[in-house]
Amino acid sequence: MIVNPEIDRYLNSLLPRRDEVLADMEAAAAQHIVPIVGPAVGRLLAQLVMITRARRIFELGSAIGYSTIWLARAAGPGSEIHYTDYSEENARLARRYFERAGVASEVQVHVGEALAMLGRTPGEFDLIFNDVDKEMYPAVLEAVPPRLKRGGLLVTDNTLWSERVLDPPDATSRAVVEFNRRLYESSQFYTTLLPLRDGVTVSLKL
Ligand SMILES: C[S@@+](CC[C@H](N)C(=O)[O-])C[C@H]1O[C@@H](n2cnc3c(N)ncnc32)[C@H](O)[C@@H]1O
Repeated sequence: MIVNPEIDRYLNSLLPRRDEVLADMEAAAAQHIVPIVGPAVGRLLAQLVMITRARRIFELGSAIGYSTIWLARAAGPGSEIHYTDYSEENARLARRYFERAGVASEVQVHVGEALAMLGRTPGEFDLIFNDVDKEMYPAVLEAVPPRLKRGGLLVTDNTLWSERVLDPPDATSRAVVEFNRRLYESSQFYTTLLPLRDGVTVSLKL
């Protein structure tokens, strides 16, 4: 927990009940220890999509598609959401959830390495959500800027990395620290790290 656990409980107590699909996914993720953003960050993702009216969205690291559904529902019918994961099994589960959530026609599923899939998908995006393995975060900073439109958002999860950014004990933590430092220094982005759950960084492409 990054914030005081009582504050965290309070924030979660404010969240409206999720529908059956998201509730099932939260239960499955807890049972099988699948890391998902959870409802507080899911709601933030949806809100950022609504504020920016993002319609073309690329997600780097989607697992069973929980955050994908928050993004797709906020973007609405006719939007284009790209799911990526290198696990066939995750993609199989995600496709079933997309059907149940009513977003299957908006979501394109790519199985493979997320940055390679981004490279193979032409055009600019309104929003890119980054949730890949943390040691890849510096590589994300190379791949993403040319693929975001001006005024678009790069949103990144786990940027406080369970407090390990304070005294990074390993290469993965150092990659997150480097990512945060470079984003704040970048003249290409205007960045704020929000201490929600495990830290969410929101970067506006200038
Ligand atoms: C933290 S989980 C994603 C959770 C998802 N964003 C959510 O909140 O519902 C990270 C997922 O990304 C996948 N992954 C990590 N690095 C990847 C990469 N470089 N390319 C493709 N998939 C990757 C892993 O298989 C894992 O399922």
